Amino acid sequence: MRLRNVPHAKKLIVRHPDKIVSLGGDEDILLNERFPKERPLEVEIGAGKGRFIHTLAKGNPTCDHIAVEKYDSVIIRALERVIDDPLPNLLLVRADAEHLDRFFRPRSLRRIYLNFSDPWPKKRHEKRRLTHPDFLAMYKELLEPGGRIEFKTDNRKFFEYSLKTMNRAGMRFLFLSLDLHSEELSDNIMTEFEERYGKNGPIYKITASFEEGHNEETVQGTA
Ligand SMILES: C[S@@+](CC[C@H](N)C(=O)[O-])C[C@H]1O[C@@H](n2cnc3c(N)ncnc32)[C@H](O)[C@@H]1O
Repeated sequence: MRLRNVPHAKKLIVRHPDKIVSLGGDEDILLNERFPKERPLEVEIGAGKGRFIHTLAKGNPTCDHIAVEKYDSVIIRALERVIDDPLPNLLLVRADAEHLDRFFRPRSLRRIYLNFSDPWPKKRHEKRRLTHPDFLAMYKELLEPGGRIEFKTDNRKFFEYSLKTMNRAGMRFLFLSLDLHSEELSDNIMTEFEERYGKNGPIYKITASFEEGHNEETVQGTA
């Protein structure tokens, strides 16, 4: 979806500075300060067309949310959604995730959501995977004490890779599922990707934190 050229994307983004910011990587800006007061802050990285984060923000008006997406042509679909149904607690950010540590105060995020991140199956692209050890090290700096990463994928190999990188990073697993849609969970918010491809096979989920603890004692769900 990202390769499609949407000629009016840049113009639309510039017209809505209250709803979306486009960052190249060297701007001097602290996204925490884009909201009127400091409240819990949750971020989705690779938000696509924004259905997940918009639903989340709408249902949780007492905390703030940021959707990060790399491509103009994709995030303008989220922008159209926010124009139709504005939410004061949701900001869209067009940026590459690799620059995020410049734009947030350390230890200021309550949750990082990674929903159906691109698996980048080729070894030479490993560094682009959003659960690569370099990204995990960055998330560790950004998450507040007790903060969590919530990761969903339909790709078994990417799930296994992410389990290994998170385990090696010393993360504690709070929830694991090998078939999320078979669990009796009422709080799952379907993403666009999940709705489209979730019927083809199981959805895997990991919730993990950098808190101290023993994985054997804490894992719930059908791991
Ligand atoms: C497969 S789509 C999933 C979109 C959405 N989360 C969903 O579940 O429907 C992955 C998205 O992550 C974005 N993405 C990939 N790498 C990124 C990066 N380094 N920074 C920000 N976004 C990225 C892609 O542009 C794409 O829109």
